[in-house]
Amino acid sequence: MHHIKNYLKHHIHNSISAVITKFNYKKTFLKYPIHFDKQILNQFKEKGFLVFPEVIPENQLELIKNEVPTFFRNSKLSDSNEIAYKRESAEVSKGHLTNAIIEFIKNNNIFSLIENYMNSKFLITNFVVKINHPTKEKMGPSNFHKDTYKHKSVHMMIYLTDVDENSGCFTYIPKSNNADLHSFKPTPIKKRISDEQISKFYKKTEWLKGKAGTILLVDANGLHAGPRWIDSNMDNLKSRTAVFVNFSTLPFDNKLRNFFYKQSSNLHKIFYS
Ligand SMILES: [Fe+2]
Repeated sequence: MHHIKNYLKHHIHNSISAVITKFNYKKTFLKYPIHFDKQILNQFKEKGFLVFPEVIPENQLELIKNEVPTFFRNSKLSDSNEIAYKRESAEVSKGHLTNAIIEFIKNNNIFSLIENYMNSKFLITNFVVKINHPTKEKMGPSNFHKDTYKHKSVHMMIYLTDVDENSGCFTYIPKSNNADLHSFKPTPIKKRISDEQISKFYKKTEWLKGKAGTILLVDANGLHAGPRWIDSNMDNLKSRTAVFVNFSTLPFDNKLRNFFYKQSSNLHKIFYS
């Protein structure tokens, strides 16, 4: 019965969320060209993710990598799970990295694509860089989960290191973005779902690998897990540096909605000036 409850919750909250976002849209978002690639949109809708391999040019990548330490010096984020999960994160500000992302968004009409994917207006609610070091066990988000049932959420991930099965790969269950009854069947324990549960309902886990400069677009309402490392020998494992940009509709929950407002008003200054 659990999955029916989550299924209903998802659809009710998402409809309300889209309406709230529509009414608050003018205050928060500027205009962008309404054009997108239908084929790419269909691919996104079908699987729940898109991979744009090595879209950041190598010469820019060098400048970006040199810039990252300043984010950690100037705007490191506090994280109670930092030590347990072996990760650290920092806010991103303007510079080479931001410019490269804006360039990618413009060249590929990403905002228009996301709006058509979500079938809703949206806000930019998060922009951080994270370093994840290898862990022996699967910790927190490295177990399968959906980010939320309460609003629509799409993540853009930018790999700044080469990512494969042994370097903190992001994984996704194709088609779990289609919020049908089936996609809510696995039973979460403390909001996370075991691999064993997943394998009962889904045949395939997609490992979204890519060289540094690869950009992913993922529906966070679908089942995903990451970072992950396959090899049991710690000597073969590498850290992952990745940037996260979140696009969300406004949730019904007042507290979270105000938080999204505040976040987005700052971030829209970065993305729209
Ligand atoms: Fe997540």
